[in-house]
Amino acid sequence: MPLMTIRDIDVKGKRALVRVDFNVPLENGTVADDNRIKAALPTIQYLVESGAIVVLATHLGRPKGKRMEEFLLTPVAERLRFLLDRPVAYASDCIGDAVEGLVNSQKPGGIVLLENVRFYAEEEKNDPEFARKLARLGDIFVNDAFGTAHRAHASTRGVADYLPAVAGFLMQEEVAIMGRALAEPDRPFVAIIGGAKVSDKIMVIENLLPKVDSLIIGGGMANTFMRAKGYNIGKSLVEADKVDLAKSLLTKGGEKILLPSDVVIAREFKPEAENTVVSSDRIPDDWMVLDIGPETAMGFTEAIKQAKTAIWNGPMGVFEMPAFARGTLAVAQAMADSEGCTIVGGGDSVAALDMAHLADKMTHVSTGGGASLEFLEGRELPGVACLQTKD
Ligand code: 3PG
Repeated sequence: MPLMTIRDIDVKGKRALVRVDFNVPLENGTVADDNRIKAALPTIQYLVESGAIVVLATHLGRPKGKRMEEFLLTPVAERLRFLLDRPVAYASDCIGDAVEGLVNSQKPGGIVLLENVRFYAEEEKNDPEFARKLARLGDIFVNDAFGTAHRAHASTRGVADYLPAVAGFLMQEEVAIMGRALAEPDRPFVAIIGGAKVSDKIMVIENLLPKVDSLIIGGGMANTFMRAKGYNIGKSLVEADKVDLAKSLLTKGGEKILLPSDVVIAREFKPEAENTVVSSDRIPDDWMVLDIGPETAMGFTEAIKQAKTAIWNGPMGVFEMPAFARGTLAVAQAMADSEGCTIVGGGDSVAALDMAHLADKMTHVSTGGGASLEFLEGRELPGVACLQTKD
């Protein structure tokens, strides 16, 4: 069911309590990556132009219920002012009389950024009294924090018990694009799943397998599948307790599952380690797999280019080390060259895309790490489930 958004309700003159995910990386006291802030701008701008008072709530880091200097939103407030090119009042707290006074003194179009909601332990406990205090700052609740939608916290879920709750544009777009890809994909539908561990992605694989035409597996987790096929994988990373599971997934998936046919192996886990390419069933005992090989990269590229829908989550190798980044970069390039719908989620794949300067070539780059994973697992996200739908 499509979500109701701010476009579907009257926001004029209303105080819109907007949950955003401004949980951004900081370096030397400034925002090191402002993609998440930029992604929320359309919602903020629309509300401002429509005459609402915009009250922004977010968390930053994991301060575990304590007010901590390093998690103050000062750098976020600065970057937001710069990006919006307008004043943003920065509240010293996220609840209480002084904050209410600041919010209620705003004129239509005014913007207030509340201090880090995770300075209160009640936030992560979804404490109803804390949620009620937050809700006093709005007439409507707008959830635009897709990245935190998998958390049932007071500012992502609790406030919806007290205020009419609708989606912001980012939330709506994330849910609509990924939801459509899962429910009614244009075919062929290919999923590319990588990363270190099978255990992190089991539920994604299980949910996607019946839906996709091909499931590409790379990264450290492919080792466990290669072991399940009976290959020697040397001293590569493996999850021994997941080999049986990998076997049963291989049986279930049959020809849909594509594994590396060749791999880049190294003697040590080091950027400058001696390395070479071998066939996946010829890995010597004292070597480890650190990337997919060139033949595999070509095969995966072909499958991705033919796809009408491609979803990618997780790198193909240790892409942080240039000698083992080629497989991941080949997937990024294939996604960029594809004419189909291309969706990327997960911190590492997004970092690889940024490294290759290809993010703007994707149909959709999710702002959610854990949230996009849970979405692909087919789980209901509490921060989405509490929003009104267009019945
Ligand atoms: C994220 O960065 O994935 C979200 O902001 C959620 O943060 P959390 O994992 O600390 O809840």
